[in-house]
Amino acid sequence: MTTLNSIKIHIISHHRFWLFVAFLWAQAIIISIARTPPLCFPDRSSPVSVRYVPIHSSNATSTAPAAPEPPPPQYTDDCPSGRVYAYDLPSSFNRDLVLPGCTDLDPWNWECGIVSNHGYGLAASELRRTLPGDLHKSWYHTNEFTLELLFHHRVLKHKCRTLDPELATAFYIPFYAGLAVGKHLWGNDTSAKDRHCEMMLRWVKSQNYWKVMNGSDHFMAIGRITWDFRRLTDPGKSWGSSFLNMPSMQKVIRFIIEKYPGDEMDFSVPYPTGFHPKTKHSLTEWQSFVRDYKRTALFSFIGTDRNWGGDDLRRLLMEHCRRESGSCRAVDCGVSDCARNYSVTLVALLESEFCLQPKRDSFTSRAVFECLVAGSVPVFFSKAAYEEQYEWFLPGEQESYSIFIEQEEVRKGKVAVKEVLKRYSKEEIQRKREKVIETIPKIIYSKPNAGIKSFKDAFDIALDGAMERIKEEKEWVDFL
Ligand SMILES: *[C@@H]1O[C@H](CO)[C@@H](O)[C@H](O)[C@H]1NC(C)=O
Ligand SMILES: *[C@@H]1O[C@H](CO)[C@@H](O)[C@H](O)[C@H]1NC(C)=O
Ligand SMILES: *[C@@H]1O[C@H](CO)[C@@H](O)[C@H](O)[C@H]1NC(C)=O
Ligand SMILES: *[C@@H]1O[C@H](CO)[C@@H](O)[C@H](O)[C@H]1NC(C)=O
Repeated sequence: MTTLNSIKIHIISHHRFWLFVAFLWAQAIIISIARTPPLCFPDRSSPVSVRYVPIHSSNATSTAPAAPEPPPPQYTDDCPSGRVYAYDLPSSFNRDLVLPGCTDLDPWNWECGIVSNHGYGLAASELRRTLPGDLHKSWYHTNEFTLELLFHHRVLKHKCRTLDPELATAFYIPFYAGLAVGKHLWGNDTSAKDRHCEMMLRWVKSQNYWKVMNGSDHFMAIGRITWDFRRLTDPGKSWGSSFLNMPSMQKVIRFIIEKYPGDEMDFSVPYPTGFHPKTKHSLTEWQSFVRDYKRTALFSFIGTDRNWGGDDLRRLLMEHCRRESGSCRAVDCGVSDCARNYSVTLVALLESEFCLQPKRDSFTSRAVFECLVAGSVPVFFSKAAYEEQYEWFLPGEQESYSIFIEQEEVRKGKVAVKEVLKRYSKEEIQRKREKVIETIPKIIYSKPNAGIKSFKDAFDIALDGAMERIKEEKEWVDFL
C-alpha cells in the first residue's frame, strides 16, 4: 500500500512522464472508441451538470424557466486548483471548545487569549512605545495554539471557497483538534482524549462527500504538535490522543505546527507569531525596518528557566549568554513578563545578529519563527529543528539563512558559541539576514482586510499546496 502510494506520488510529481502517459492513453482511447462504443467509460461531466442548481436565479426563473446554465468551470485563473468547501460542523467540534472570556496571557493558561480577534489575539499596544510609526499596528498577542482558528477564519473568507459542495475540489474540516485534546492532555482519562476526535470522524464519515474518496480530498489544521495525537506509538502509551492513528484519518491532509517526518499526510506549517501585517505595504515597511535596525549585540538567548536539568542545553546557553553580557542579550521569561509585554523579547531579537535556538519542549518551536520575523539569524543545535519540517516555507538550504552548531560540542565544552559566531564576517551575516528577510512573508499569517490580497503568506502557501495535491490526485483517479 505504501509502496503503491509512493510510486503514485512519484509519478504524479513527474509531469513530463504524466503527460507522456496521457498522450499514449489518449491514443489508445481514440483507437478503441473508433472501433467499439465506449460501454463502461465513466462520464465524469454528467453528475455535475445534472445536479447543478444556479443559486442566484430568482429573476431568471420567473421570466425564463427551464434554461439550465452550464456549471462554472472547475478550474479558473482565480482558482487554478479549484474550490474549497468548508463543512458546517456542529459547534461542539469547534466554537464550543474555545474558552470564552479569558484573555490572560500567562503561558500556564494555554487556552486563554485564543478566541479574540478570530485567533489573531489582542493588539500588542505596548509596542507603540518600542516601534516607530505605525509598525506596532501589525503586532498582536497571538496564542501559539491558535492555528485552528486562523485557518478556519481564512478559509471562510477565501476567494475560492464555495458554498456548493458539488463544485468543490477540496473539503476543509474545521475541527479544533488541538483544543479538544489539549484539555485532557495532562489527565489520565485516555478515552476523554479521543472522544471528540471519534465523534467528529463519525459525523464527517456520514457525509456523502467523504464517501467519494474516503477522505483523501479532505484537509484540516491542527494547532498542537503531532506527538499529542499519536498515543498508540507513544512508548508509554498514555500521552495524547490517538487521533492521527485512527484508520479514517490516514488519508486526510493535516497542517500541523510540528509534523512526524514519517507520515506523508502531516504537513508542518509555521507556528503563528504575533506579527500579522494587513497589507503588503506594512510587510515591506517591516522588512526594511529589521534590515536597517542597528544591531548592537552579537547574539541573544530567550528562555524560561523552569528548573532546567544540569545538562540541559538551555541552561548552558543561558549561563554562556549571561557571562558574555557584552555580546549577548539574555532574557529569562521566568523573570521578565514575556507573555504580556512583547517589547521584552522583540527588542532583544532586534538588537542581536544571531539568536540561539536550542531544542525546547519539542523539536521545533515558535521561538524560531519569532527570531526570523525579527530579522535575526537563527542558530540551531539539532537538525530535527528544521530537517523535514516546514519544507514549503523555509529556504531549503539550511546554511543559506542559519547557523548549525552540534549540541554535543557545546555540551562537552569543545566549542564556545560566541567564538563560533564571531568568525562570521559582516558580509556573510548580511547575506544570511537577507535570506531571512526574504522568508518573512512565507512564515507569517497576514490579517487581510476585506478583499486586500497582495502577497502570499503561510496560509496561502499551505492552502494552494493542499489544493494542488488534491487536484492532482483527483485527475489521477479520473484518469484510471
Ligand atoms: C432582476 O434583474 C434586474 C436587471 O437584471 C435587476 O434590476 C433586478 O433587481 C432583478 N430582480 C431581482 C428580484 O433579482
Ligand atoms: C486518575 O487520576 C486520579 C487522580 O489524579 C486517580 O484517583 C485515579 O485512580 C487515576 N485513574 C487511573 C486509571 O489511573
Ligand atoms: C472507501 O472505503 C470503503 C470501505 O473501506 C471501500 O469499500 C471503498 O471502495 C473505498 N472507496 C474509495 C473510493 O476508495
Ligand atoms: C515592557 O517592557 C519594556 C522593556 O523591558 C519596558 O520599558 C516597558 O515599560 C514595559 N511595558 C509595560 C506596559 O510593562
